[in-house]
Amino acid sequence: MGHALVTGGAGFIGSHLVEALLARGDKVTALDNLSTGQAPNLDHVKDNPNFRLVVGSITDPVLLTEVTQGVDVIYHMAAAVGVKLVADDPVRTIETNIYPTEVLLRHATAAGQKFFLASTSEVYGKYTKETWNEEDDLQFGPTSRPRWAYGCSKAIDEFLALAYSKKRKLDVVIGRFFNVVGPRQVGHYGMVIPRFVEAALKGGPITVYDDGGQERCFAHVREVVDCIITLMNTPAASGQIFNIGADQPVSVKQLAEEIIGLVGGDIPIKYVPYKDAYGDDFEDVRRRVPDVSKLKRTINKVPTLNRKDLLQEIIDWKRGQMK
Ligand SMILES: NC(=O)c1ccc[n+]([C@@H]2O[C@H](COP(=O)([O-])OP(=O)(O)OC[C@H]3O[C@@H](n4cnc5c(N)ncnc54)[C@H](O)[C@@H]3O)[C@@H](O)[C@H]2O)c1
Repeated sequence: MGHALVTGGAGFIGSHLVEALLARGDKVTALDNLSTGQAPNLDHVKDNPNFRLVVGSITDPVLLTEVTQGVDVIYHMAAAVGVKLVADDPVRTIETNIYPTEVLLRHATAAGQKFFLASTSEVYGKYTKETWNEEDDLQFGPTSRPRWAYGCSKAIDEFLALAYSKKRKLDVVIGRFFNVVGPRQVGHYGMVIPRFVEAALKGGPITVYDDGGQERCFAHVREVVDCIITLMNTPAASGQIFNIGADQPVSVKQLAEEIIGLVGGDIPIKYVPYKDAYGDDFEDVRRRVPDVSKLKRTINKVPTLNRKDLLQEIIDWKRGQMK
């Protein structure tokens, strides 16, 4: 098999991807600065002779030249991630998410390496359609509101990747993830399920922002990683963008109630305005549901694990962590 570079390989999705690539016999180099990710996420693979972790930043161009040497494929997962981190530190978001992507795309193009770009449903901005498909318009709020910097920075990455594909024959696949969840995801950067599960296991309260009527879809990281790897093995996917997610929406309030039902006990829900968590200039997206028909058409699979099993697995994992 080949040699893969996984940027952000110590992160939540990155570490699951590293494991899956090693399991099928690939050699893997992970590059991570351990900012939102952590080395213990790679404990399962750290002694595998085909694996190497390089601790460093994608913002270091010299290091990028070193780690891209001799690889066949780059999975670019590293980014400044999380609603809270992005709202708190827009400079870091923009600097981490744009320039290093350009440097990596140049390396991949020059060396004929395949490229997977991790993008996000945030690129749709606050579009109000029932479901979002890859050809829909992007609707961001004003630049005076830093929360849109994350989606905009990833949209720039997509433009760059597509430009390299069209003009310089880069073999690239772009995946727009919609709320990926599972073991190893942490709650302190604003990710809703780990935050709710942690709160529930401590007896509450679960803090729901606004009225809890926001709708989201949640896909298991294992299924998402399977989609990524399958897309990279599918020639028809080259040069294309794919929504990658589940398409069964649930309101955040119902999600909190489902988690309480599974954890058991008398756990209160506390409703707080967004501005208390993210400041006065925060705007949220009410509904976020992917149209996954292109993914299904291309690889004949989409994430389907039901929410009860998914939540139970995360609760069991978190219980183990809290022991
Ligand atoms: N989890 C989701 O629901 C979701 C949704 C949409 C998009 N994404 C995208 O998927 C990718 C992975 O996200 P995740 O959920 O696993 O989050 P994560 O925070 O666990 O992973 C990101 C990883 O990148 C690393 N990183 C950050 N800045 C870096 C730098 N300058 N140099 C080297 N490494 C750096 C972090 O330490 C972390 O390990 C990101 O590109 C993110 O934008 C995730």
